[in-house]
Amino acid sequence: MRVTVSRKAHFNAAHRLYRSDWSDEKNNLVFGKCSNEHFHGHNYELIVNVNGEIDPATGFVIDMKVLKDLIKNEIENNLDHKNLNLEVPEFFNLNPTAENIAVVIYNKLIPHLSKDQLLEIILYETPRNFVKYSGEK
Ligand code: NI
Repeated sequence: MRVTVSRKAHFNAAHRLYRSDWSDEKNNLVFGKCSNEHFHGHNYELIVNVNGEIDPATGFVIDMKVLKDLIKNEIENNLDHKNLNLEVPEFFNLNPTAENIAVVIYNKLIPHLSKDQLLEIILYETPRNFVKYSGEK
């Protein structure tokens, strides 16, 4: 039987959406307030879904403690209370949109799962705006 195991997590981070090869006018037109040069913060809510076969020996798809520690070590420790543009290397040359953050989170977690497990990332940037990413099919 395949079951989806889910874990919620949370981090705060600052960002700015901006392209240095565009004029201030164009950045403002495309990104609006999110291009503010002084950055701004979001309370990100993260849901990590792992779908896989139940291990008959343990009854687990993945040990929740293992998943909790993985999210803490790989995601929270790298992103929480950070300025994504200035402190997180993945975003030095990548706009830290919710879409791109979800892909970065996916890419950090997927190497730690077994090959038959499916990963889905759901990332809320605001209570009403969220994105989903589950890898390229
Ligand atoms: Ni923003």
